[in-house]
Amino acid sequence: GEIKRLEEIFTVDTAKLKAITDHFISELAKGLSKEGGSIPMNPTWVMGFPTGYETGTFLALDMGGTNLRVCEINLPEEKGEFDIIQSKYKMPEELKTGNADELWGYIADCLQQFIEYHHEGEKLDKLPLGFTFSYPATQDYIDHGVLQRWTKGFDIDGVEGKDVVPPFEKALEERGVPIKLTALINDTTGTLIASAYTDSEMKIGCIFGTGCNAAYFEHAGEIPKLEHVKMDPKQEIAINCEWGAFDNEHKILPRTQYDIIIDKDSPRPGQQAFEKMIAGLYLGELFRLVLVDLHEQPHVQIFQDQDISRLKKPYSLDASFLSDIENDPYENLQETYDIFYDRLKINSSKPELELIRRLAELIGTRSARLSACGVAAICKKKGYKTAHVGADGSVFNKYPHFKQRGAQALKEILDWEKGRDGKPLGKGHDPVEILPAEDGSGVGAALIAALTLKRVQEGK
Ligand code: BG6
Ligand code: GLC
Repeated sequence: GEIKRLEEIFTVDTAKLKAITDHFISELAKGLSKEGGSIPMNPTWVMGFPTGYETGTFLALDMGGTNLRVCEINLPEEKGEFDIIQSKYKMPEELKTGNADELWGYIADCLQQFIEYHHEGEKLDKLPLGFTFSYPATQDYIDHGVLQRWTKGFDIDGVEGKDVVPPFEKALEERGVPIKLTALINDTTGTLIASAYTDSEMKIGCIFGTGCNAAYFEHAGEIPKLEHVKMDPKQEIAINCEWGAFDNEHKILPRTQYDIIIDKDSPRPGQQAFEKMIAGLYLGELFRLVLVDLHEQPHVQIFQDQDISRLKKPYSLDASFLSDIENDPYENLQETYDIFYDRLKINSSKPELELIRRLAELIGTRSARLSACGVAAICKKKGYKTAHVGADGSVFNKYPHFKQRGAQALKEILDWEKGRDGKPLGKGHDPVEILPAEDGSGVGAALIAALTLKRVQEGK
């Protein structure tokens, strides 16, 4: 009974996927219009693809959801080549909801450590830096960005609505760190550019991780909100969609009561409606909310007479918890039993284990299928019959079956079962393929910094 109800609310069939995709296409266009829409569609001032012959040495700073990473990238003369050294620093949890000075100070400290370690005793000119700041930002030019709003559970006062570059540079100056910010970029834009460096079929860069988002190239002529900027209508410019904000007005996505709770209890209710249903930050929480709700319903009888206090703690389960359940190879779900016992001190019965596994599958499948709607929408909007999509992020790289489920949904949305000539398509010939990307926040950021310096030198 209960499994059936969950299947009903979490399953998105082909017809619904198609309807969502159609609405998505019009929302992408609305985001590019003068009036604007929910999806920000932020112009990035990344104008065109790399040639593969970019050269130079660059620093890259990646401030994602989980880690802070500093890289030094060398682009040699050889086409499409690069060397990279990198250090990872933990992004302390308290910092995400702390204050702005601490945030910039911590980042500047990490950069300083990196430079001291790798360039000890050297006299350095200012190194150009590509800063991957993976939050929605309004940019009038490439080396600044006004944070529109925090996403992915960040909540630091005094940063929204302001240019993030001056306080960042101030923290560097205070420490005497020899760095010049050259470009502020999004992880999706980095992913797009890094992937295009080695694969000329690359059309879209996607992140399926703590958050979910995509970037692609749009012709200036298709961006009415940039009408005031003098540009050749054929000029291509990368757009950071920020598609996590799709359907903030709740017109089409099949939200469950659990999605509504996630939104209500988040630091920014009403924002990132799409992201909150599909991204890694929320998958474990959705799962947890369903189980707590079932426990509280007298007729369901799940985890009866057990102490579920650990399960009651918000955000205590992350997406890797669901990955482990979906990866359990045993018929009797022994591993699932063990993780529930080890992590939550809950003894699960056979029927409970079956429900747990099915629920993980439903949440993981919904995430992959809804994510595919965004990819399909960009392809349809641009009229791409074939394309490579470069993807990165923990959900794409680590969540079991995510890739296959996404590919299956794309087939259903774009009607490939038949193939364009009406014949069935052979295996491995999907016209739109989502492939693991090159390191966008390292190589991509360096390439964008290189392209920017080149444009500056050429006076464009
Ligand atoms: C990383 C990229 O691999 O993936 C980051 O370097 C990106 O730039 C990240 O933000 C996204 O994944 P997650 O799972 O860390 O949010
Ligand atoms: C969130 C951010 C976006 C980022 C994505 C993936 O959606 O707003 O900028 O690209 O997460 O990290």
